[in-house]
Amino acid sequence: MMKFDNERFNRGYQGHFPEDFLWGGAVAANQCEGSWLAEGKGLDLASCFPDGIHHQYRGHPQPGRYYALENAIDFYRRYKSDIQLFREMGFKVFRTSINWTRIFPQGDEQQPNEAGLQFYDDLFDELLKNGIQPLITLSHYETPMGLVEKYGSWRNRKLIEFYTRYCEVVFTRYREKVKLWITFNEINNMRRNPDYVAGILFREDETNRAQVVYQANHHMFVANAKAVQLCREIIPDAKIGCMLASSNVYPNNCDPVAVFETQDLRRRSLYFADVMLRGYYPGYIYRQWHDNHCHIEMAEGDLPLIKQYTNDFLAFSYYKTTTHEAGQPFFGDTGGDIGTPNPWLKTSDWGWQIDPLGFRYTLNELWDRYQVPLFPVENGLGAADKVEDGKIHDPYRVDYLRAHLQCLKEAIRDGVEVMGYAYWGPIDIVSAGTGEMKKRYGFIYVDKDNAGQGTLQRIKKDSFEWYRRVIATNGAEL
Ligand code: BG6
Repeated sequence: MMKFDNERFNRGYQGHFPEDFLWGGAVAANQCEGSWLAEGKGLDLASCFPDGIHHQYRGHPQPGRYYALENAIDFYRRYKSDIQLFREMGFKVFRTSINWTRIFPQGDEQQPNEAGLQFYDDLFDELLKNGIQPLITLSHYETPMGLVEKYGSWRNRKLIEFYTRYCEVVFTRYREKVKLWITFNEINNMRRNPDYVAGILFREDETNRAQVVYQANHHMFVANAKAVQLCREIIPDAKIGCMLASSNVYPNNCDPVAVFETQDLRRRSLYFADVMLRGYYPGYIYRQWHDNHCHIEMAEGDLPLIKQYTNDFLAFSYYKTTTHEAGQPFFGDTGGDIGTPNPWLKTSDWGWQIDPLGFRYTLNELWDRYQVPLFPVENGLGAADKVEDGKIHDPYRVDYLRAHLQCLKEAIRDGVEVMGYAYWGPIDIVSAGTGEMKKRYGFIYVDKDNAGQGTLQRIKKDSFEWYRRVIATNGAEL
């Protein structure tokens, strides 16, 4: 039974962010660290998509080809000075991932790689020393290629064992340092990009792809439940969330067919949270399995485990919305589903439609459905910034952020319980969707271009001071 926090609600109702609100930013290891094979690290999945999620898997890195992730923004060696900048902005939380391949380079070793463990020890110490809590994603498109090539990745039940071993090692090692965890980044992107999310590389002759993906999802749900179980045992005072990409879709018009299909489309994402937060497969999924001729193999004990070990909170990314017309094929990218443009909304340089009210809508929708604390752990604007006389003026980023934070505040007034807010890419990093540096989200500019040229110098953009002020006033000044 959930305890209703009256005081928290009252403060929220009056339009205040909670005192313990976790302001901060979020990145993923593979998009910022670089040093992609340093100190025993193995090859991860993301490194085999040099042009990002929009393009295809290209196999092992080829000599002579440029790979943005090879050095990324060199966070691996520069994290101390970058953390100073986060501290200057007043961050309370910093979300990053542990790159699985630094700990288990191939994925199936019995013993972890000590150098990788030490790197994250040092990183977490540095964050804590600066008053910043780490929020750690266990798998952010960084499945070891060893597991993809040798086992077929998550289509194989053995992955549960490898993932669980990895979780046990990092929970034990960082039990005093990390109290906030996320099991899989944007797990619902499995329905859009199962290759990038989980290394599901289809064979030419594989006709029933839905079967493969639903089966892989099942393995990930069991692994998620086992991670929750381990986390409760090893770090009883930690919280472990699940995560969705939750940019929303509206019906394009009031044609009931469009409205119904939109609900169906939304449930293709929500089904993941339904399983991980409610603890059971919802009825509509059994129908989808039936209609798609899927037979999902489960071991005895899987369903009770999923029932018993549900996540503590729901983390989600929110960037944009789109609309759906009757009969339109379903398609999407890092930002979510891609349908028909919405004439009421403006569009970013990369074609993502900006919809702050949709953020409030999504927060209310998810809270109504699950009644667990929510954590927007990705939200932000990717833009082509220009350096003029050594300065970056980015009022468009401030506008985006202000509008979204105002809607977040309204959602809190609506009674939604929100743990914090982590802006995506507070420092420029490599885009997951396109593999570019040019698509910049940061408050901190990194001098590097799409061809890899640049000094890697960090420069504060105008938005840096604006976000610092927001945090300093706990969101009172927006
Ligand atoms: C999310 C991912 O889907 O969107 C991030 O979790 C990604 O890894 C972010 O970077 C923004 O997408 P993009 O394509 O602009 O980098």
